[in-house]
Amino acid sequence: MSQKPQRYTITAALPYTNGPIHIGHLAGVYVPADIYARYLRLMGKDVLFVCGSDEHGVPITIKAKKEGITPQELVDKYHKIIKASFESFGITFDNYSRTSAKIHHETAANFFKTLYDKGKFIEQVTAQLYDEKANQFLADRFVVGTCPKCGNEDSYGDQCERCGTSHNATDLINPRSAITGSKPTLRETNHWFLPLNEYEDWLKKWILKDHTEWKPNVYGQVKSWLDDALKPRAVTRDLDWGIPVPLPGAEGKVLYVWFDAPIGYISATKEWAAQHGKDWEPYWKDANTQLIHFIGKDNIVFHCIIFPAMLKAEGSYILPENVPANEFLNLEGNKLSTSKNWAVWLHEYLEDFPDKQDVLRYVLTANAPETKDNDFTWKNFQDRNNSELAGIFGNFINRVIVLTQKYYDGKVPTPIKYFDELATIKTYKDEIGQAIETFRFREGSQKLIDLARKGNQFLQQQEPWKKIKTHPEEVADIMFAALQFAAALAYLSEPFLPHTSTKLKKALGLHQIAWDAVEIAKDYSRFLIDSGQLITANHEILFPQIEDADIQKQIDKLLATKKVNAMENKTVTPIKPNITFEDFSKMDLRVGTIIKAEKMPKTDKLLVMEVDLGLEIRTIVSGIAQSFAPEEVIGKRVTVLANLAPRKLRGVESQGMILLTENKDEKFVFINPDEDGCENGATIA
Ligand code: MF3
Ligand code: ZN
Repeated sequence: MSQKPQRYTITAALPYTNGPIHIGHLAGVYVPADIYARYLRLMGKDVLFVCGSDEHGVPITIKAKKEGITPQELVDKYHKIIKASFESFGITFDNYSRTSAKIHHETAANFFKTLYDKGKFIEQVTAQLYDEKANQFLADRFVVGTCPKCGNEDSYGDQCERCGTSHNATDLINPRSAITGSKPTLRETNHWFLPLNEYEDWLKKWILKDHTEWKPNVYGQVKSWLDDALKPRAVTRDLDWGIPVPLPGAEGKVLYVWFDAPIGYISATKEWAAQHGKDWEPYWKDANTQLIHFIGKDNIVFHCIIFPAMLKAEGSYILPENVPANEFLNLEGNKLSTSKNWAVWLHEYLEDFPDKQDVLRYVLTANAPETKDNDFTWKNFQDRNNSELAGIFGNFINRVIVLTQKYYDGKVPTPIKYFDELATIKTYKDEIGQAIETFRFREGSQKLIDLARKGNQFLQQQEPWKKIKTHPEEVADIMFAALQFAAALAYLSEPFLPHTSTKLKKALGLHQIAWDAVEIAKDYSRFLIDSGQLITANHEILFPQIEDADIQKQIDKLLATKKVNAMENKTVTPIKPNITFEDFSKMDLRVGTIIKAEKMPKTDKLLVMEVDLGLEIRTIVSGIAQSFAPEEVIGKRVTVLANLAPRKLRGVESQGMILLTENKDEKFVFINPDEDGCENGATIA
């Protein structure tokens, strides 16, 4: 048997570089991946944790156009912001690379060339969508249209955000160009396809039979893909932003972003190896390496089906051992959205809550969307900080440090007696480790708090503050034991609360030890903090209370976002300039009742109605047929602008206007008197 430590290659999804990152990214991918990597390093494993910026693809070019800069300028800008956010949240990538790097262009192009030379692609001329106005092919997010699966009218060409289905742009019903809005035509062009159908049987065995231990949300999604029959997928595009297809005669074509991006994990490994004088290949080709992909649920098909098929086709690579994808995190009940600015951006969080990285890491872990979508609320953020981090963890540490100062001038006392409670430290260490190894990070974070709770209970039962007067000799035993709990928390919190762990180790004068060394022997032949050790005299409070006002500020910020979005969606328009009373009194507004209604023939939108205005009956045509069936409106009380100049609609003269508003589902709603006693014809002023 070799003595070499088990090797792990841990990857975290390369974030798109078309905007900064928010709490959803952190909760879904980067915090769990970091907890896992930190833990395995503490277990003495050979860990390589890589990530980088995903800088190709259509959304980048669209965003660059919007900002009036080049795609390269755009990705340079966000790469910097994203990288800085990861660093300040303590995400310990061994390398954070980027797909515009030269080494990546080479690696991805070579990968393509290898598959090409091995005859793994089908080359095919197909008709693709083309925008005649913009003079370019429309791939992926350049097209929107109706999803063939769920009917979402705003599905993108590559993926429907409503039902998660990924498809070809030509599958969309009623496609329209995202660039010019025009209806695309079809134009022939040649592309290279990976025949996924040929990998179906192999994938079924490899995942559905041999990886039944994968998380149910991942396994389930893969199964439904495989049940649905896989089709060949184009791996090239007609675009000018991306990695050029490395074949003669392929000018103007680039690799599909989802072909090149996962190869970014390999490029990042190569870059790291070159910088550290290491060999990259064992991390990707040695059968003893465990490859683990951390991703969000929208990336499952790419990491469980397409990328493995690419690796398999290449032939010399290992396959992922697990793909612990998370579901989505919502924010205050609504889907996180970059375009709607419905998010908590990490760089903004850090401005508002400096030095509280661990609080966010903790709350996002405790609420992680591990098995189903979950909701982040500011109230819950405050509660978890104040009650769990401050009230339990911070409070215990504070009591131990203060009492040690008070009774022993900060010097760890020498014990005689062992307390059975100390055995729980090993139990917690093992259980937290188990939880992390099996991707149950929420559970791990709760066990950590539970260990602090145990420490508090121990102090509460022993009451050293009473015994110091009655049995001072026992207090040395008690405080020695309590300090072991504090030291255990310093060590075991590292994967979850790395900044706190560092502070705490410093305050207690601890040096780094392995995860498995965090236990206390019954005869004290092994413990965590030594008698005579001096602990800090002026430690800072680890988790200050978060006040209502701090939370309110965040909630107000979100409300402001809601308002802006509502205005942009035109459900709320700005108030118009003032008018005089005279202007107003020119309008003759009356109460009426609809007595007859029918659909205008050959239209979808118009209803022709007869409205009783008391003195007379008017014919009014109104565009409300999509909100009401004719029979629904008969008998309704309404407000009518009676002196609006008549107008012919489809040959029918409309003699007035019925006043309407819209509800939040964009359905029309009548404005009517809220009492039945009003006569038809009553004036409104
Ligand atoms: N950029 C993609 C996203 O944000 C993820 C790419 S993961 C990789 O959804 F495998 F392609 F790198
Ligand atoms: Zn859909």
